[in-house]
Amino acid sequence: MAIHVDETHQTFHLQTDHTSYIFQVLAHGILGQVYYGKKIHVEPQYNHLLKRELKTATPAYSLDEPDFQIGAIRQEYSDTGTGDYRRPAYQVTQSNGSRITDFQYDHYEVVSGKKRLKGLPSTFDDTEDDAETLTVHLTDDLIQLELELNYTVFPHQDVIVRSANFKNHGTESVTLNAAHSAQLDLPDKQYDLVQFAGTWARERHLVRTPLRAGLQAIDSVRTTSSHQENPFMMLARPNTTDDAGEVFGFNLIYSGDFLDQVEVDQWNTSRVLVGINPDEFEWQLEPAKEFQTPEAVMTYTADGMNQLSQQLAAFYEEHLVNAKYKRMERPILVNNWEATYFDFTDKKLMPIVKQAKKLGIEMFVLDDGWFGHRNDDKSSLGDWFADLKKLPKGISTFADEVHDLGLKFGLWFEPEMISIDSKLYQKHPDWMIHTPKRRATPERNQYVLDFSRPEVVDYIYKMMSKVIKETKLDYIKWDMNRYITEMYSTALPADRQLEMPHRYILGVYNLYARLTQAYPDVLFESCASGGGRFDLGMMYYAPQAWASDDTDAAERMKVQFGTSYGYPQSMMGSHVSAVPNEQTGRITPLETRANVAFYGAFGYELDISKMSDAEKQAVKKQVAFYKQHRALYQFGKLYRLDSPFNGDGNVMSWVVVDDDQDHAIATRYQLLNHPNAPYERLYLRGLDPDKQYRVNDSDETYYGDELMNAGLFIGSEFDEDADVKKSVDFSSRRFMIDVAK
Ligand code: GLA
Repeated sequence: MAIHVDETHQTFHLQTDHTSYIFQVLAHGILGQVYYGKKIHVEPQYNHLLKRELKTATPAYSLDEPDFQIGAIRQEYSDTGTGDYRRPAYQVTQSNGSRITDFQYDHYEVVSGKKRLKGLPSTFDDTEDDAETLTVHLTDDLIQLELELNYTVFPHQDVIVRSANFKNHGTESVTLNAAHSAQLDLPDKQYDLVQFAGTWARERHLVRTPLRAGLQAIDSVRTTSSHQENPFMMLARPNTTDDAGEVFGFNLIYSGDFLDQVEVDQWNTSRVLVGINPDEFEWQLEPAKEFQTPEAVMTYTADGMNQLSQQLAAFYEEHLVNAKYKRMERPILVNNWEATYFDFTDKKLMPIVKQAKKLGIEMFVLDDGWFGHRNDDKSSLGDWFADLKKLPKGISTFADEVHDLGLKFGLWFEPEMISIDSKLYQKHPDWMIHTPKRRATPERNQYVLDFSRPEVVDYIYKMMSKVIKETKLDYIKWDMNRYITEMYSTALPADRQLEMPHRYILGVYNLYARLTQAYPDVLFESCASGGGRFDLGMMYYAPQAWASDDTDAAERMKVQFGTSYGYPQSMMGSHVSAVPNEQTGRITPLETRANVAFYGAFGYELDISKMSDAEKQAVKKQVAFYKQHRALYQFGKLYRLDSPFNGDGNVMSWVVVDDDQDHAIATRYQLLNHPNAPYERLYLRGLDPDKQYRVNDSDETYYGDELMNAGLFIGSEFDEDADVKKSVDFSSRRFMIDVAK
């Protein structure tokens, strides 16, 4: 049993294998937060944990209760305007213009399992044998509004998933101005906020800052989760490292505008809010309607950030990613984007496909430019039929040719977009998101379709369906290459325009849901100019995502290392591309490019038909090697060893370990070589201390505890005495660690 309720004291204790989350009903049916952290004993009540002092200059609940000050208590889901001046979890405007509410505890229920949400990506426990779900019902009798707070406890991964649902039982509409998914009021502020910030081609770089007084927030108002910030956030004790220490993780299963906020108040309590960004949100809730927020994921460990990442990875594998892809090894692909860009015909593509077959690659993905008359990024988005100038025999014959060679076939789509120069625009100019009589701002020469309109989603569904069927498609790369501007829907009334950002995302989810249901064998990869929508909402439908448009090995190290804190390797699309690199001009060894890309859903993104024979041989070996170890790379437990975000960032290393702790692959990357280098040791993690291992088939064997505590001595790669000096800049060294037989 994971959920312990004491009905007499109205306390709720949610226990996972290693954590406890406790709240209780206080006076006037207000929910007070008691504790979240390392597992503690279940008790009937926790009043001793709720001790507080009477605070001066702080409103009281009523004249009779001067010491019940809601601004000084830790709340479960706080209101606005009644004495708590911290930012609230929700706001409801009523027909008289008031935003004052009074939600009081009514009842609760506990069920086994976890149902999926309708219309939103969500966690699940379809077999109902793992999770337990608590729903707490509160009501505001004056306006007959019900608030359901949902908590699902996933005991074995130490995760609690939360959401709120507002139900209008009244006779008048109300407007939700904010509706967060989770609130957490921590009792102190001794935390570092760890966020993953960046930009296009430089996504999810780790930024760590101590909490300070006042508001600090990570958010997006771009209608994507964005390149700039990511909804995954951690709060770590200042001394917490990858290996040890307390850390909380938060994420939102959502792909649109989000807010992760921490507010440190006057008494140093820290309020965390996670949810849809209220800056660009409003929702009219009519009588008999309900509004379900997306789900927030919360997790905690006392054992460092590697542990946190691993429990999240295990959780997503079990309870978020489509069960079909659980531990399903992802195909090795070659994608033609950086090989040809828009400039291709079937004649130019077939040598790549044939070469792929020879090298053991398993799938060919035809990227942008196969449809309409798209020879650059100025046209044809929305016209999802083949360009017969490039593919004279049509897309289905081309697909057949790829399939006949024994390769899988994937296609690029950008379903949410429209070009002015397109048949779709000629037919339906009003389907493009724009604000009447205002300038329409282009980005990458393109505009966005109004996915809040069901007929638009229907149309795109039909077009894509036709292509999927005709090509017997195996894989879709679903791209989204711009943020939204002049957000407005001509199909919505004036007073509902702020619903548009959320309605848009619901439209995207609707298309994903229909396609994944109708074509369960198609593997989806999400993409948004690289990693602009790398989030849990997408992961529910598309188990992998293109991590970044930056394919330079040295830059990719950082992107993938940062991403690994909140997302599993199997989700990270990572490819070997040509040198000099397209994004940085850097030349890195082929071996390093592969050693970086191996830690994800692996592939190539270059013209393999034009490689030298030596390079082809090298690629063939890489492909064979990866096939042999793919399960370990994609699904092994990942331990970060040396961070490229520490010090001068010259070294990065990490290791993946299999479930039995028999095999591990560690890789150490170095940017620049330094003369007369200091001695270096690699301190491994995750091995069985009592097993003996060989490293790269060494004669010596080492106990796991030696490799982890004394470390593996690794000498310098650079040979000063060699006649021909070899560059060891941007080098990588791989250590195969296998249990000694
Ligand atoms: C985006 C993607 C790339 C490629 C191009 C095609 O930038 O991230 O991988 O698909 O679009 O236009």
